[in-house]
Amino acid sequence: MTTAKARAAARVTYQLETLWDYDYEPTHAELETLYETAKKNQWNGSTAIDWSHRPGAAGPVLNVQVAFAGTNFFARLTPEEQKEVEIRVSAWRLSQFLHGEQGALVVCGQLVNSIPELDAKLYASTQVVDEGRHVEVFERYVKKLHKIYPVDPLLKTVLDEILATNLWELKLLGMQMIVEGLAIAAFNLMRKQTADPTLAQLLDYVLQDEGRHVNFGYFALRRSIPDMAPAKREYLEDFTFRVCDAMYARDERTGFQSIKTVWNELGWDGDAIWRDTIAHSQTTKAFNSFLFHDNLMPRLVRLGLISPRVEPRYRAIGLCV
Ligand SMILES: [Fe+2]
Ligand SMILES: [Fe+2]
Repeated sequence: MTTAKARAAARVTYQLETLWDYDYEPTHAELETLYETAKKNQWNGSTAIDWSHRPGAAGPVLNVQVAFAGTNFFARLTPEEQKEVEIRVSAWRLSQFLHGEQGALVVCGQLVNSIPELDAKLYASTQVVDEGRHVEVFERYVKKLHKIYPVDPLLKTVLDEILATNLWELKLLGMQMIVEGLAIAAFNLMRKQTADPTLAQLLDYVLQDEGRHVNFGYFALRRSIPDMAPAKREYLEDFTFRVCDAMYARDERTGFQSIKTVWNELGWDGDAIWRDTIAHSQTTKAFNSFLFHDNLMPRLVRLGLISPRVEPRYRAIGLCV
């Protein structure tokens, strides 16, 4: 990528209204407790996590034996090649979480400005600090493990759309509900599978914070969605479906395809391995179904975002309600 192109890709231009709240009246009773918990449960990434272990030395970072079980390519690899795949795929996946954390950091900065009520702004201010800490610890871990891979183009498109909208409701929906909701489910699975002590500890701390963030999004949206103008609500519904459709990896066209970079840099055929994984890895299918079907959809239903108008579209891609 040329420098000019890289600069353009790293910039998002948007117009956003900053709102003052001079009422100083509590508006969200649930946020009071959440705000207190956020202040109490701050932690320091430098000292809370034991950084002395070499990543991958104690056991698999992410369990690729499980992830690629059933595929043709993985069974043919030597043990050394399998270890190489483990390190690189783990670094690629954790890099995407790192970019997602940076996305959460910058979106939360916007929310402090644009969300109308002061108690919500105060809560959002704690999330800015949380996300800064998450960027710090993921960056440190990925650099120790291998290297930071570029942001996946699909992930970047979704994050840029959340950043560029002037609707705070869409920012909350896109970031706190969809991106962070999916990340929590993925972190929980990674936590169960990893045998790396540093990553396990890092995920335990990050998960503590992420639970609050999803609750924040849910509380604020639950209040605003019922009174929303129909056109705005349809806009939110359409955005949600479009993002789910693109990210719910179910065929060769959907999902985060930049993992092909890992295969190509090892000198293998990235497209062929991508097709092999989509067709034969039961774990990949189960993982995506767990993320979208079991975790995200129930939340969207509770928020009233799966209206009869959009429900058939979800049904068509296998995300029945
Ligand atoms: Fe985070
Ligand atoms: Fe978060």
